[in-house]
Amino acid sequence: MSGNPYQDGRGNKDLSITRPGGTGSAEPEHGDRAPGPRVEGMPFLIGDAMTGGYGTGADILHDCTIAVDKGQIAVIVGPNGAGKSTAMKAVFGMLNVRKGAVRLDGEDITHLTPQARVAKGMAFVPQTSNIFTSMTVEENLEMGAFLRRDNIQRTIDLIYDLFPILRDKRRQLAGELSGGQRQQVAVGRALMTEPQVLMLDEPTAGVSPIVMDELFDRIIEVARTGISILMVEQNARQALSIADKGYVLVQGANRYTDTGAALLADPDVRKSFLGG
Ligand SMILES: Nc1ncnc2c1ncn2[C@@H]1O[C@H](COP(=O)(O)OP(=O)(O)OP(=O)(O)O)[C@@H](O)[C@H]1O
Ligand SMILES: [Mg+2]
Repeated sequence: MSGNPYQDGRGNKDLSITRPGGTGSAEPEHGDRAPGPRVEGMPFLIGDAMTGGYGTGADILHDCTIAVDKGQIAVIVGPNGAGKSTAMKAVFGMLNVRKGAVRLDGEDITHLTPQARVAKGMAFVPQTSNIFTSMTVEENLEMGAFLRRDNIQRTIDLIYDLFPILRDKRRQLAGELSGGQRQQVAVGRALMTEPQVLMLDEPTAGVSPIVMDELFDRIIEVARTGISILMVEQNARQALSIADKGYVLVQGANRYTDTGAALLADPDVRKSFLGG
């Protein structure tokens, strides 16, 4: 095994992830971050026309489509109970998709387990219980690398560069951290697998506006390294303002889909979902 965690086929090859003003080749311009050639018209990750629910219960998702392109940020918004978390779980393989498909880089992964999806480069930070509170910060990061057999210290250092407060608190129990710091641990843990897609369910839940802005800045930074971000957000206005693509879900179905900017400018979306 190579000592360089960046030498395998998956994950982020751009070491500038954590270096402000680093040497990344991706353009910082909004919506233009995709490195490398792309097959036109095919999103990197798509949950395509997903219909399904929990166990044998009624369908929660109805023909729901969620997608994200390489190195872009896609944001899912909508009222409580709309099925945002359910859509994320469906894309990650935690839910039976009765109709529709999930494809990653063109490959049908609809029937893969979540673990198998992690091995393919997907990482998911769930809405709740997303850290091990009785473990230290660093142990949480190590847990995130359970699938890896190579040297993980380099990745841990990159994550500490991205979230410097975690370096300071690395020996502290994660349960003792503030809400914003816990979310950094959760995102850091997910990044330990060197994913190509990072899925975040309400990463700014319960944090102050300043911490929220900071987290969004870090998320943008991660996307600039070529990692795709698929994110659910309660702070719809702010999230759409950093989104290349936005999805408004209502009752398990797509209500509006457009660029983040177009959704923010749409009077109907504003009136119904963004508080005017
Ligand atoms: N584990 C579960 N088993 C059965 N039904 C569930 C489960 N989780 C969620 N549901 C139901 O699925 C529907 C969608 O819930 P979901 O959590 O996906 O909504 P959400 O848009 O993420 O809401 P919120 O904004 O509150 O996080 C709700 O009716 C909810 O009761
Ligand atoms: Mg939810």
